[in-house]
Amino acid sequence: MKLFGTITLALCVAAAVSCGQQNRKNEDGMKKNEVIENIMSRRSIRQYKAEPVARETMDTIFLCGINAPNGMNRQSWEVRVVDKPETVAKLKELMITGNPEMKPEMVEGCFRNAPTLVFVANDPAYDFSAIDCGLLSENVMLSAWSLGVGSVCLGSPIRFLKNSPEALEMLGFSEGYNPIICIGLGYPLESPDAKPRDASKIKFVE
Ligand SMILES: Cc1cc2nc3c(=O)[nH]c(=O)nc-3n(C[C@H](O)[C@H](O)[C@H](O)COP(=O)(O)O)c2cc1C
Repeated sequence: MKLFGTITLALCVAAAVSCGQQNRKNEDGMKKNEVIENIMSRRSIRQYKAEPVARETMDTIFLCGINAPNGMNRQSWEVRVVDKPETVAKLKELMITGNPEMKPEMVEGCFRNAPTLVFVANDPAYDFSAIDCGLLSENVMLSAWSLGVGSVCLGSPIRFLKNSPEALEMLGFSEGYNPIICIGLGYPLESPDAKPRDASKIKFVE
């Protein structure tokens, strides 16, 4: 009986703490909790420590990624991770070879210095596949941030990649899958300010 009372008290305290979290407000009067704080504090990071993100941490991040909502649970994505420095260097080399018209620094720079590179490919045969990939990517970036890992969503490497058959082959996506976005990840060396957002784009239809 005493044990039952202790458990009930613990649950009540947990519920109170949890409700407290839901009801906290910041200086702007906005409701906040840990999820909202995580979303609001994430920023694109473009300066990283050289070490790749620990594989154990990446496992958690990808578990969050694949638990994103996705059309009909088709999970119409494929993900390739390049995090060994020598593999990253090889991939960049192949991309530079594939884009002789571009200055090598441009290909190199498009990864924004991130040591762990995640390539996401979609299945164009499914009309909502790009959305699936976007949602997976956001889960990756937000869960990463909650674990102290910075990220940057990168479109430009995809353009370079499309001209690089050898780099594409190296990534080894299944037939029919197209790389759609790259995510750079790593331990941040900067903490940029938020860029302005336009709240007027959202309107309630009465
Ligand atoms: C589809 C997409 C493509 C992007 N491509 C690049 C890119 O190629 N290089 C880059 O530095 N940032 C890229 N970004 C990051 C955006 O510039 C950044 O998210 C935006 O400026 C808002 O800043 P914040 O992420 O810090 O809030 C991309 C973001 C998205 C969603």
